Amino acid sequence: MPAVGGFDKGTGKAYPGNLTPYVTVTCVVAAMGGLIFGYDIGISGGVTSMAPFLQKFFPSVYRKEALDKSTNQYCKFDSETLTLFTSSLYLAALLSSLVAATVTRKFGRKLSMLFGGLLFCAGAIINGAAKAVWMLIVGRILLGFGIGFANQSVPLYLSEMAPYKYRGALNIGFQLSITIGILVANILNYFFAKIKGGWGWRLSLGGAVVPALIITVGSLVLPDTPNSMIERGQHEGAKTKLRRIRGVDDVEEEFNDLVVASEASKLVEHPWRNLLQRKYRPHLTMAILIPFFQQLTGINVIMFYAPVLFKTIGFADDASLMSAVITGGVNVLATIVSIYGVDKWGRRFLFLEGGTQMLICQVIVATCIGVKFGVDGEPGALPKWYAIVVVLFICVYVSGFAWSWGPLGWLVPSEIFPLEIRSAAQSVNVSVNMFFTFIIAQIFLNMLCHMKFGLFLFFAFFVVVMSFFIYFFLPETKGIPIEEMAEVWKSHWFWSRYVNDGSYSGVELVKENYPVKNV
Ligand code: BGC
Repeated sequence: MPAVGGFDKGTGKAYPGNLTPYVTVTCVVAAMGGLIFGYDIGISGGVTSMAPFLQKFFPSVYRKEALDKSTNQYCKFDSETLTLFTSSLYLAALLSSLVAATVTRKFGRKLSMLFGGLLFCAGAIINGAAKAVWMLIVGRILLGFGIGFANQSVPLYLSEMAPYKYRGALNIGFQLSITIGILVANILNYFFAKIKGGWGWRLSLGGAVVPALIITVGSLVLPDTPNSMIERGQHEGAKTKLRRIRGVDDVEEEFNDLVVASEASKLVEHPWRNLLQRKYRPHLTMAILIPFFQQLTGINVIMFYAPVLFKTIGFADDASLMSAVITGGVNVLATIVSIYGVDKWGRRFLFLEGGTQMLICQVIVATCIGVKFGVDGEPGALPKWYAIVVVLFICVYVSGFAWSWGPLGWLVPSEIFPLEIRSAAQSVNVSVNMFFTFIIAQIFLNMLCHMKFGLFLFFAFFVVVMSFFIYFFLPETKGIPIEEMAEVWKSHWFWSRYVNDGSYSGVELVKENYPVKNV
């Protein structure tokens, strides 16, 4: 029986090619697409804890918070209006990622990125200038549309551009820019909250224009991926581009495989319906479960609500925003570890190590909060060592996420889908991710109020389940050319029954019918 990791023989393919400066710069620019997503994740928590912002747009929330004499710390911030402000964006992102699938497939990855940047720009301007709640909401919806387009196209773009040996590292550039976006937003909130006159929130929200412009301009200067050019019939151009990207003349084998994959994808009339075919069962399962589990790590409780959470467990305003900056910094640094290790140690090792680390931290944090706050949420005086221990373990937890589920939640789906279903499957990945981001953002404060410190154990439970899932069901994809990925399922102990049941994959069908000569 094949190993649990599933893949223990090479595909025999080793396309020539180097990590050229051209491809590196290209991927760095494209990865900037993550900034807009990260900026938004990081900005909303801080803005919603700024009193002038609440007074202006959500006066009832403000009054409730100001008047609330209850000493139950767990329920202090429980307000659905407030969470709706944070979470509405993710619903818009969910919808637009579905539209983006068609744009990305028919018109190329670049155009989706351009749309992403432009919509995000518009949203940021409207939000920064908001005079009424409706402007905030319209702005949030536009931001969400922008994120849907960018998250659908950027990871695919990166995985297609990268030489397969460095695919992991270059793709994680996307996650790195998400984390940089979050950190920058946390730092800006910290300073803007101090602005006299209480209009700092305008700068926080309007500041999103900067990352939006970066990806808008970036998408105009970026080259198309060879895969996408072939998909749209531009074979000669694609071959020249591939030579340029790989820095070698001998790109014949890779090029031919790309053409074969593209022919296969043309046989597919209904990429969405196709996804439901038996042979794509492993892909569909991953497209749904990986983003689901990524959100069920509970990471966004920290990312969205770190300032609120830290306030809840007894930190002063300033210290809360500062602690959010600290966790944001840890998030960036740990992502760099992942860039270093992902193509060396493999995806499975990182997933399993990160899971174990998160689990241990969640149990410790739950215990710390449980011991001090009990079930009635009345902590009494909190000693300094206590605050330090909690922040420390939250940081260790964040680093565990940042070198495992964070980057891999985007990398693995983008590299496992065959071209014929790639855009559609990636949309499923983005929409499931956005849906659960929405759910967590929407119900976290309410869950904290009801489940109390047990909330951390709830997420810990899912971390156990997801680690078993990875152990048994996710094959290792490190070092496998993207168009050769079918092999990993064929030799997997479980998935082989779906992809090896005598049915030809699209690619094989084309190889039989249209042997590719030099095109
Ligand atoms: C996730 C986000 C999360 C971020 C934290 C991303 O991979 O999709 O939901 O907030 O990582 O760094």
